[in-house]
Amino acid sequence: MPLPGRFVRLGVNIDHVATLRQARGEFDPDPLAAAHLARLAGADQIVLHVREDRRHANEHDLRRIRETASLPVNLEMALTEEMADLALTLSPDRVTLVPEKRNERTTEGGLVLTSDYLKSLDLFSERCAKRGVRVSLFMDPDPEMLGKIPPSGVDQVELHTGPFARSFGTPREEEEFGRLILSATLLSRRGLVVAAGHGLTPFNLPRVLDIPGLAEVNIGHSIIARAVLFGLREAVSEVKTLLFRTCDGGGT
Ligand code: PXP
Repeated sequence: MPLPGRFVRLGVNIDHVATLRQARGEFDPDPLAAAHLARLAGADQIVLHVREDRRHANEHDLRRIRETASLPVNLEMALTEEMADLALTLSPDRVTLVPEKRNERTTEGGLVLTSDYLKSLDLFSERCAKRGVRVSLFMDPDPEMLGKIPPSGVDQVELHTGPFARSFGTPREEEEFGRLILSATLLSRRGLVVAAGHGLTPFNLPRVLDIPGLAEVNIGHSIIARAVLFGLREAVSEVKTLLFRTCDGGGT
């Protein structure tokens, strides 16, 4: 029996699995294993951001996940020549264009659609269409900037929920949420699919689900942070069990 209610796709961003791997510079934890586990838990797509400085995920991760994870892949990237070539070579199912600053810890804001940017976007989206790669834009809930989205080449907009998430539970929450509602309504009227991402947690997500027409959420930090804490007990117990066996003389 179908579940009542609306279906919202979940994209799981596994960048921070790669961040942890890079901390040791070896192989563990493997983002591909994380992608498989996310799929088994019900994720609808895997999201990864290949940054210019490759501080977490890289093209090798993207290729392996693309080839074997059996889930749609959404590549977040800046619109540079290098990344455009990578995207068109590895053909993820979707590309989400984000602004990228070298010293930022995470994506800090939505795209600024200048006329130069729009020219590059036009060329890129045309190349993507030929490869069957869909294009999404990561945008602030700012009606003026959303008004600059070109009439073709882009089928989805991911609204930046970071400011809403930071305001959650504070007097600013209503205002930030209002901006999301207004923006989602404008996007839906233009026939664009509405996604949301950044700073989402199990605590603020129920409110985000009230955004009209919301089709997808993309979540990274809170899922990986909670996975580390939920898994810690099991990981420590595993080692303690081995130590007890050794003390009992049961070890080999
Ligand atoms: N969507 C976009 C476009 C992002 O850049 C990020 C962060 O990489 C996310 C979603 C996920 O945000 P968070 O890690 O805060 O859940």
